[in-house]
Amino acid sequence: MTLCAPDTTSFIRRRQQLMAWMRSLGGGIAVIPTAPERTRNRDNHHSYRHDSDFFYLTGLSEAHAWLVLIAGDKDQSILFCEGKNPEVEIWNGLRWGPEAAASHFGFDRAEDVIELDASLTKLMLGQSRVFTTLSRPAQTGLLSQVQGWITQASQSVRGTRVTPHQWLDISDVLAEMRLIKDAGELSTMRRAAQISAGGHVRAMQAAGPGRHEYELEAELLHEFRRHGAQSVAYDSIVAAGANACILHHRAGNSVMQDGDLVLIDAGCELDGYASDITRTFPANGVFSGPQRALYEIVLAAQYAAAACTSPAHHWNAGHDAAISVLTQGLLDEGLIQGTLEQAIERAAYQPFYMHRTGHWLGMDVHDVGSYRAPPASDQDRPWRMLQAGMVLTIEPGLYVRPSEKVPEAFWNIGIRIEDDAIVTEDGCELITRDVPVDPDEIESLMRV
Ligand code: GLY
Ligand code: MN
Ligand code: MN
Repeated sequence: MTLCAPDTTSFIRRRQQLMAWMRSLGGGIAVIPTAPERTRNRDNHHSYRHDSDFFYLTGLSEAHAWLVLIAGDKDQSILFCEGKNPEVEIWNGLRWGPEAAASHFGFDRAEDVIELDASLTKLMLGQSRVFTTLSRPAQTGLLSQVQGWITQASQSVRGTRVTPHQWLDISDVLAEMRLIKDAGELSTMRRAAQISAGGHVRAMQAAGPGRHEYELEAELLHEFRRHGAQSVAYDSIVAAGANACILHHRAGNSVMQDGDLVLIDAGCELDGYASDITRTFPANGVFSGPQRALYEIVLAAQYAAAACTSPAHHWNAGHDAAISVLTQGLLDEGLIQGTLEQAIERAAYQPFYMHRTGHWLGMDVHDVGSYRAPPASDQDRPWRMLQAGMVLTIEPGLYVRPSEKVPEAFWNIGIRIEDDAIVTEDGCELITRDVPVDPDEIESLMRV
């Protein structure tokens, strides 16, 4: 599926930025494949999703493509992609082909991917360094493939020319680039957020005792797809009643009961960018007393975290603020005991809140980027300061499983409230609020 990437200048600029970094380390050759296709069963494939780094640098969402960058006296960007083939295209759809891809996406040149082995062997000559992604779970064979080209290159010249003798990882530098979103990326993310919010509104309005989790999943998908989102950003979580206390419960066969809370964590992927929203609402349209009490604690925690999401705060400030509000709420409701300081110190909230308050969001739902101050992400480095253009989720929750230690009225209440935030110059913008979070607004939406 060709994605909407009208402004190809941003891809050219990103390649130039990466090549400038490569030159600062002495130059060399970078080899960046897109994601492989995966078989689902027999001759049937999983729906194809490009590699995020590859797409970030090229704008191309086709399979079987490679980006090669040469940074030296004269920079070069070379694309390898599938050649035009009318017979195959009748079955599988149109391809760009090297010629059109080179001119549309601004590569210095492009070649048919069947030339990859022969060309890469030649391109390794005269280069001292190979830049690539050393940790690549989806493509464990990459390093041996590159090693094969280097071996062939050095055997072909028998010591008369330089061949690469240094490997360098591009993951961290690309992650730092991807962490700050440009205007085009933010506009796509706002639109993805808006579509996902519409999906949540639709699912809330379709909910009711007797409906299945999978029926609400269908409402979400309907809304995502009819607005042009190519996919979900992750498998939708639709969890009724006790299932809401399982953090990643996939939408299943369970039936919503009168008196249940329903937790939906779902977001679409639009033109390569994710959104990630969670809402929790009563199946019958009215929060019970204990449900509303815990809901208001989680909502207050989310507001506290959002107030700490600005360039004046470090990454963990929002989590610290949420923990403080959640812990005070648990004390007030009698779910834990002690003073606030003691309860935070001994992590008394942990049986009820066992995840963090957010993560970076971008091309990947759990997007790349260190949470610690650059250049490395060692444990003892300080949390990094937030910067305008970063995008993150804010998603506190409370999950109460049956236990003799807590009043029965709270059992099986699972609540998470998750919004997507763009860090601005002086605060943050919540881009997913087209679906309400206020409990009264949720109740009135469900009455419509
Ligand atoms: N949907 C996964 C998460 O919220 O992080
Ligand atoms: Mn999330
Ligand atoms: Mn989520």
